Amino acid sequence: MGRVEALRLILLYAHLIGFALLLGGAIAQYLTGKIRINPAMLWGSVIQLVTGIGLSAPLRDGAEPAPAKLVTKLVLALLIFVMVFFSRKRAEVNRGHFLAIVGLTLLNAAVAVFWR
Ligand code: HEM
Repeated sequence: MGRVEALRLILLYAHLIGFALLLGGAIAQYLTGKIRINPAMLWGSVIQLVTGIGLSAPLRDGAEPAPAKLVTKLVLALLIFVMVFFSRKRAEVNRGHFLAIVGLTLLNAAVAVFWR
């Protein structure tokens, strides 16, 4: 395995951990009945942006994802980050706002898996 491939796999591994933090953190929080942003969601949303941008670099000998797919994922991830970051200090957030974060996270994962 070459260095570039090792880097891509490390980024992808971190990207999946970020996804788990964001989605898992949100679902665990929702099940407590206290609808608020927690640190797992905040860190997950940051990790997704950083590792996603890293994964968008030409790391695959020309088999890179389509630019439209990357732009779609970036816009969705920025929206999630803004919704998480600017409501992180609130004691309680609107249920619709919270479920929209979960929905956009699931949508971004679906874009990653099904947009081939
Ligand atoms: C909340 C935000 C995000 C979620 C939930 C998410 C989810 C995922 C998941 C589940 C995968 C693995 C798919 C698979 O291996 O088939 C993936 C891969 C990928 N994501 Fe994201 N992602 C997010 C943000 C981003 C952003 C912002 C970018 C780029 C700007 C990005 C770029 C990529 C790329 C390039 C891959 C493919 C990696 C590879 O196989 O080389 N992601 N994403």
